[in-house]
Formats: sequence, C-alpha cells, structure tokens
Amino acid sequence: MDKKTFYITTPIYYPSAKLHIGHAYCTTIADAIARFKRLAGYDVFFLTGSDEHGQKIQRKAEEEGIQPIEYVDRIVAGFQNLWRRLNISNDDFIRTTEPRHQRVVQEIFKRIYEKGDIYKGEYKGLYCTPCESYWLERQLVDGKCPDCGRPVEEVAEEAYFFKLSKYADRLLQHIQDHPEFIQPVSRRNEMINFIKQGLEDLCISRTSFNWGIPVPMDPKHVIYVWFDALTNYLTPIGFLDDPEKFARFWPADLHLVGKEIVRFHTIIWPIILMALDLPLPKKVYGHGWLIVDGDKMSKSKGNVVDPIALIDEFGPDAIRYFLLREINLGQDGNFSRDALIGRINADLANDLGNLLHRTLNMIGKFQQGVVRAPSGQSPLDAALITDAMATVEKFTAGMENMELSPTIKLIWAFIGRANKYIDETAPWALAKDPDQRQALANVLYNLAESLRIISVLIAPFMPATAPKIWKQLGLPTDFSAVQLQDIETWGGMPVNLPIGTPEQLFPRIEIEAPHEVPTAALKPDKLPAEPVKTAEEKEITIEDFGKIHLRVVKILSAECVPKTEKLLKLTVDLGNEHREIVSGIAQHYDPADLVGKNVVMVINLKPAKIRGILSHGMVLAASQADDLKLVSINMPVGSQVK
Ligand code: ME8
Ligand code: MG
Repeated sequence: MDKKTFYITTPIYYPSAKLHIGHAYCTTIADAIARFKRLAGYDVFFLTGSDEHGQKIQRKAEEEGIQPIEYVDRIVAGFQNLWRRLNISNDDFIRTTEPRHQRVVQEIFKRIYEKGDIYKGEYKGLYCTPCESYWLERQLVDGKCPDCGRPVEEVAEEAYFFKLSKYADRLLQHIQDHPEFIQPVSRRNEMINFIKQGLEDLCISRTSFNWGIPVPMDPKHVIYVWFDALTNYLTPIGFLDDPEKFARFWPADLHLVGKEIVRFHTIIWPIILMALDLPLPKKVYGHGWLIVDGDKMSKSKGNVVDPIALIDEFGPDAIRYFLLREINLGQDGNFSRDALIGRINADLANDLGNLLHRTLNMIGKFQQGVVRAPSGQSPLDAALITDAMATVEKFTAGMENMELSPTIKLIWAFIGRANKYIDETAPWALAKDPDQRQALANVLYNLAESLRIISVLIAPFMPATAPKIWKQLGLPTDFSAVQLQDIETWGGMPVNLPIGTPEQLFPRIEIEAPHEVPTAALKPDKLPAEPVKTAEEKEITIEDFGKIHLRVVKILSAECVPKTEKLLKLTVDLGNEHREIVSGIAQHYDPADLVGKNVVMVINLKPAKIRGILSHGMVLAASQADDLKLVSINMPVGSQVK
C-alpha cells in the first residue's frame, strides 16, 4: 500500500534583506508540522525557497551597484545557512531564478493565454513596490497602500491581464463549500468579503523593468512577480517532468503563510489553478505576526531580531521551543529576550533538564547505570503510565489540528507529572531498603520510559535535543528511524543495557541585574564635596530608593562633545519627551553604535550644566576596571524600572 503523503510549504521569502525572526517563526512552524507528519508515517514533502524577481529586488541591487543575480545569490546563501542552523528539514529549496522554475512559469502563462484567460491590454493604476501589489484608488487607505501604509506609484503600461473576474463566483463557491480551505476562520471571513466586493482582472506583466521571467510570446514584458512566485509550489513536485510524483503530492496539503499574504494565496493562486484545471490546495493557513518587545520590527526602528545571533547564543532548540510554545498559531505574538531566557530557565533547564538529570543520576547511583526490568505496579506507577499514554494520544490529535502551543504545554504537563512522581515515590528512600529493590527498579524504569516517550514527543519542536536524550538513555536504535507507533504502547524502553553519559541539555542563563547605582556614569561638574561611602556602609530604605525614577529610554542620537575625550552628548526619547544628556562614555562607545539602543536612565536627576550643555538625566552603566557597558534592555521605551 502506498504511504499517505503530506505536502507542506512556507512562503518563498524575498531576498530584499536578511531574514529575521519573523521568517524563522514561519519556517519553524512548518518544520515542526513536517517532522510530526514524518513521525506519524507520512511521506512528506516540505518546501521552502526564495522569491527573487521583481522591481523591489532590482532596485536593491541597483542601490548596491551590482547585478540582481549577484545580489540575490548572496542573500539567498544566507537563507540557506539560517535553515541549516535552525535544523529545518525541507526536502527542497526552490529559487525562482532557477531554469526549472522559469520553464514552469512560462508554460503556465502560455497555457492560460492559449485558453483565453490571459489577454493584452493597457494598465493604468497604482502599484505598491514593497508589497509588489496592484491597487485601485478606492482600495487605498489615506491614499496609501492598505497593506503596508506606504505610498503607491502610478503606473501606465501596455500589459497582460489575467481574467480573475471570470472565476470569482466559482472561487467563492469553493470557499463556502470547503470551510477548512482558509484558516483561521477570521481570515476566511476577510477573504469572503474581499471577493464579494468584486474581483478586477489582474495585471500580470510589466515593461518598466526587466528583472523577471519574460512573457513567452512577448519577451519585452516580464511576468508579474506574484504570478511567478505562486507557481513555485508546482515546480519541485514534478509538474512538468514527473507526472507520478506530481500526482502523489498535488494538491498541497498546507500552504503556511503570514496573514498579510493570505489574499494572494486564496484568490490569485486558486484562480491560476482553476485556469489550469488543477485541484486547489487543501488548506491555506494565515499565521500571525511576531512583534518585538511590543513593537513592529523595522529597520528604521533598529529592532530587527537576527535569528543567527540568537542561535549562536542559545542554540537552535531554545529558539524553536520559544517560538512554538509562546505564540498561539494564528495570533500575533511578542518576542522578547527576557521571555526567551525565562522559558529556557524554567521549562528547559529546570523541568526537562532536571527530569533527565535526576533520572540518570539515580539509575547511576542506585542501579550501577542499568535500567532493570519492571514487575508489578503501584497505584502511583499506574497513574504515571496512564498519563503518559493519554499524553501521546492528545499529542497526536493536537498536532493533526495544528495546535502546536497547546501540544507543547501538554508535553510539559507530563514532564511536570514525571518530576512529581520522583518526589512522590522517593527512590532515594526505596534504595535504602533491600526489600524495595523491585519497587525501585519499577520507578526508575518508569522514569526512563517516560523520558524515552518525551524525547519522541519533543522531536518535532526540538530536533537537536531529542536524539541527545535518546542517547543519554542508552537506547541502541537510531533516533532518525523512530516512528510515532514506537511510543503508542508503554514499555518500549529496553532493559539491562547501560545508560549513556549524562550531559546537561540546557544550561541556566544567568540574568545580570543591575543592583547598584553605577559610579561610572558621569557626575556633573563641581560635585558637592561629600565623602563617598560604599553601598554597604550606607543603607537606604525602600522609600529612599523610590525617589529614584528609572525609565527605559531610547538613544536617538549621539555625538562627541567637542574638546573632550570622555563626553558624549546624547538625545534620548523618554516616551513622552526628548531630552539631552551628557554622558562620560566616549571612550567605550562609538556614537553610531549607540543610536537605537534602549537603555536605563535616571530621569529625575536634577539638571546640571556640563561643558555648556544642560544635561537632564543620567544613563546607567556597569563598569569593571577599564570596561564599561551601558545597561541596555530589550523593553519598550517608557517602561519603568524599579
Ligand atoms: O511576502 N512575523 O515574502 P516576504 C511573522 N515573497 N512572520 C513574518 C514576519 C513577522 N514579523 N515577517 C515576515 C513574501 N514573516 C513573498 C511570498 S509566496 C508565493 C511569496 C513571514 O519575504 C510570514 O510568513 O515578505 C510572511 O508571510 C512572510 O514571512 C513574508 O515574507
Ligand atoms: Mg512581506
């Protein structure tokens, strides 16, 4: 019998800049689902890639004075590196500049043209280049692109058009007949309303630039980048060259996309497929957006989070865990470094790390590093086993329903249960009583078996950690061959084999908290002659401390104060006002590196004139010997520090 197949895709991202944590979020979701499906026995095809044509990319390359292909080659190499570092298990990576894709796009254009659903006309209208999107006057919001709020450009060219209007009723019918087609349901309603307002034929070629795939019968036109991009989903599964593969994987089971491009995937894409007489994808899921410390990420705000830096610092699994656990699919979610560290410490180092550590330690100490065969069951044992089996069942159902965060919470509830089981059964007490040897063997077996099951359950989310646990338990089989059925019945942990070497999975991350008013920040000219006492000598009350108002502020600009070596003049944003301060940090910071930093400032310090500049406030810094660093923090401007 043929294996069930599962075809899942991410958007193909624009190489207009390096990818950020938002892109990593989407691809991580897709990866977790793909890994789950493989575990559940599906033949999975998981596709991601890059969307390399269009005016936006051409302009970027021009800005850098290089050819578009050189530009995209470099950026796309960065995409591929990121996916490697994040353990993304995609089966193919499609670049729209590849010849295999160009052939598909041109063939599709030709087929639809010959059918009469593409025709030549004149385009006069509005175009948003950042979104690569056409708009009508009435669709604009305050004269700007309704999606991104940026200005649109007037375009007037001879162009090819695609008869979206012809298919509008059929599409609406399909959406109404297939409630699972557009998810979540809020997006579905938006799309229904959009279509009901009427679909205009879509302009699908441009002549004003040339970075794109030529229209086959009229090569001075390049094909509209979205028409080009959407068809990527057909290229790698053999649309033109492998009918058998194509029949196995098409229609796609899931196009996972961000909410802002659901429209392209549920209107233009299905109509292209209808014009080709191909079945429509089974599901388009619009996930929510990641914001950072409560703010939309943007270059100008300087708050774009680089996933590579995070992976360097915390490893791929901590990032994956955070993204999948913290954010409910379909809703917007917040990324913050503090929350990430909180999760690492509480869930990974404590809950999971301790369970593994305690279990392996006790097996080492009480049973010479060997898991012994169980015999008989106490009520506590039985309860743990029932809970384990219920967890596996709910895991499967949850993952099939794309309930990633709830499923992770469920696994962690079981981890908590197993930790509690250690406390309840107190193996250290059993170990003291020779009559309790079998009871001890049972408890340690149950813990090892629980961890074996847990390692499989976390594998879709944490593919680097899962095999580490497997190995530490001493399991002799290759983790990559593990299937869901291996944990569907209790008792798969082999006995009488030595466990592996215990190793820490996730070290605790220490958070450096400033607890002293730093001495390094500048003191105003002519300090009152007061003897300086150390913090220990001079206790203060909480009321004393309460007099100091600390706030997170953003440095807007920084410049050297002329004729000084140490002083910088900073302009900072307090949230409700801008201020100037002078700070003695010039020997430790390049002014340009300070701009955009969120730092902590004493805002109610009496203003003082320093080198003729009225300095109103003081930023906190930590110092040690010659080293000095500002207390910078990933929290929104205006946050109180106390
Ligand atoms: O739209 N939070 O590419 P793109 C969560 N090339 N996800 C985010 C995000 C954020 N802050 N920012 C981006 C394109 N994403 C087209 C797609 S598909 C045929 C063509 C994710 O580089 C999210 O999945 O702008 C979003 O849909 C996608 O990146 C957009 O990537
Ligand atoms: Mg975009």
